[in-house]
Amino acid sequence: MPETATLTLPDGRVLELPVVVGTENEHAIDISRLRAESGYVTIDDGYMNTGSCKSEITFIDGEKGILRYRGYPVEDLAKNCSFVETSQLLIWGELPSPEERRHFSHLLTENSALPEDFRRHFAGFPVHAHPMSIMSAMINALQSYDLPGLIIDDEEEFERVSAALMSKVRTIAAAAYKSSVGEPIMYPRYDLRYVENFLHMMFSRPYRDYVPSAEATSALNLFFLLHADHEQNCSTSTVRMVASGQANLYASAAAGVCALWGRLHGGANQAVMEMLTYIRASGMSVKEYVAKVKDRSDGIRLMGFGHRVYRAFDPRAVLLKDACDKLLNAMQIDDPRLDIARQLEEAALNDDYFISRKLYPNVDFYSGIILTALGIPVEMFTVLFAIGRMPGWIAHWKEIYDAPQTKIYRPRQVYTGPVKREWLNRFQREKGMTDSRGFKVPEELRTTQAPQSQSLPS
Ligand SMILES: CC(C)(COP(=O)(O)OP(=O)(O)OC[C@H]1O[C@@H](n2cnc3c(N)ncnc32)[C@H](O)[C@@H]1OP(=O)(O)O)[C@@H](O)C(=O)NCCC(=O)NCCS
Repeated sequence: MPETATLTLPDGRVLELPVVVGTENEHAIDISRLRAESGYVTIDDGYMNTGSCKSEITFIDGEKGILRYRGYPVEDLAKNCSFVETSQLLIWGELPSPEERRHFSHLLTENSALPEDFRRHFAGFPVHAHPMSIMSAMINALQSYDLPGLIIDDEEEFERVSAALMSKVRTIAAAAYKSSVGEPIMYPRYDLRYVENFLHMMFSRPYRDYVPSAEATSALNLFFLLHADHEQNCSTSTVRMVASGQANLYASAAAGVCALWGRLHGGANQAVMEMLTYIRASGMSVKEYVAKVKDRSDGIRLMGFGHRVYRAFDPRAVLLKDACDKLLNAMQIDDPRLDIARQLEEAALNDDYFISRKLYPNVDFYSGIILTALGIPVEMFTVLFAIGRMPGWIAHWKEIYDAPQTKIYRPRQVYTGPVKREWLNRFQREKGMTDSRGFKVPEELRTTQAPQSQSLPS
């Protein structure tokens, strides 16, 4: 007998609502027939209690600190897989065979360059344009260069467009950076793997090749892999929303980039570096800063600490911490902010304020430090997050595309604006007249002069 939940409405009617159980034993009340059967809708600001879909891609248990892609713990993937293999797992549901891996790598390489006349669009942005604005615009612009890719009608075409997006987004990101610092845009190389190729396009110059260390490549590979998906977050839900209207993959991914841009979402690792820069510039000791956070009178928080979902250690943070330590030791970087970060981490992990509230360093704390150590400027942090998240967005787009029964995402609302109003003509409104229910025309809409004619242009 399937489980049900019982809902009693204010008028005494009783509804039996089916209960849906996920493979990890998550329970949800299915309200899809609620409005039809009762006239009621539900309301849930911020969707804190709303499952917007069923999905087979990523599982998170925030209480236990669990993150799995297609059933595999991220710890195992981080230890054994590259970002590209993990992307194939996310998009197609299984780890690739050697042949599938070779084929997809080949597609990534073949699709890495931007069309020659596309490159001139970068010159259309002012020098200090934010790279996220360039990136979102350029992904959208890519559609015009791939007209066949706008209508995907078989698996082969989907694979090609997925590879084009994943590969070109990396080329666009590096080109956006080069444009913003006034350096020549570098071509991708056919002999480099995904992460090395990106670092090459970021830091090589026409007259000098940049050769990344193994530690740098490995840290960035891990960064991308750990950002590859995080179930129904703000940007992924945006991608699904746009995809549900049957928008193409480029348009849906560009919308994801825009959603990711916000400080409450992809912008938090930037806030970590800003905090470290502030502590350094103010001359304050770490102890003093932690005391200020705990005092709370200034309302400041320790950026990069705490998480809405993870109440235990964020599993991504554990892995990034380890990579961060290795990278900093290998690179011997002389940046006082990195030293401040280490002191902050130690102070907070041993302080009862943070321990009692289960406030652990989150993924953004270590990723900001890693990216800084790699020489990535702060404005590029969210762009790199977008490169990492691209396979997740593609996987979610595919999940919608593969299910033709998916309805367009179209939530309801509870309207709280004015009820129906009586129409007053312009003269009546300028005289400050009220309608029969007493709505008064606001002061700023009134003029002292009487209208010269009723037929003035509006
Ligand atoms: C991520 C975050 C928004 C989660 O917030 P949340 O789930 O709403 O947690 P709450 O705001 O309810 O915080 C619970 C308690 O911990 C405190 N707290 C939470 N994060 C804190 C932080 N980073 N520094 C200091 N105190 C913090 C709150 O003041 C609150 O204390 P109280 O119970 O005594 O009032 C929050 O931890 C935060 O602002 N972190 C810093 C920003 C950041 O790193 N964001 C990236 C997240 S990936």
